[in-house]
Amino acid sequence: MSARHIYVAVTGASGSPYARRFIQAAEERFDEVGLSISSNAWQVFREELGLDLRPDTFEVAALLGRPSSKIRYYHLRDMSAPYATGSIPWDAMVIVPCSMGTLARITHGISDSLITRAADVALKERRKLIVVPRDTPLSTIHLQNMLALAQAGAVVMPAAPGFYRRPQTIDDLVDFMVSRIMNHLL
Ligand SMILES: Cc1cc2nc3c(=O)[nH]c(=O)nc-3n(C[C@H](O)[C@H](O)[C@H](O)COP(=O)(O)O)c2cc1C
Repeated sequence: MSARHIYVAVTGASGSPYARRFIQAAEERFDEVGLSISSNAWQVFREELGLDLRPDTFEVAALLGRPSSKIRYYHLRDMSAPYATGSIPWDAMVIVPCSMGTLARITHGISDSLITRAADVALKERRKLIVVPRDTPLSTIHLQNMLALAQAGAVVMPAAPGFYRRPQTIDDLVDFMVSRIMNHLL
């Protein structure tokens, strides 16, 4: 089997624990992992994980608690990254969590950052794109955008963990979502 290459984007919706756990799982399952973080996700990291991270000095070790040779961080403005073009092959992109703002921009083809451009590339090249939106309640605009994105080929997988396995901890809920996402990437 050829090397598997995934691009993970974290945006400013609630759900940083999903992002951190998914990045760990992607490192275990993939040969190469690209990572970008939206301008607004840093604030969510601060509020939800208590981590004061900055885009210009970010190191994976600060998020995962250990360094990683497989994960490479790309700044949001780095349009020379492999994800900004369809001419460089990579396998899949996951946006976890995906804010409604990012989802709207992707749905309407607004490629104003590496994250939204990479999603645009995934759709046009027919590569796997999974978005994990989170908000409640959902406006008709959110619902229409999610429908349009699903029709364009993305997998829309709201952060909605099930309770039928009787989760005991927050980690159980997080792992539920992460394993559902992973199942779509195997
Ligand atoms: C603590 C916090 C939680 C947020 N939670 C959500 C959320 O669950 N869903 C959402 O769509 N936006 C949420 N937002 C708002 C987004 O961060 C905001 O719309 C932002 O502009 C999204 O930008 P981005 O898509 O570039 O990350 C939250 C913001 C903060 C500070």
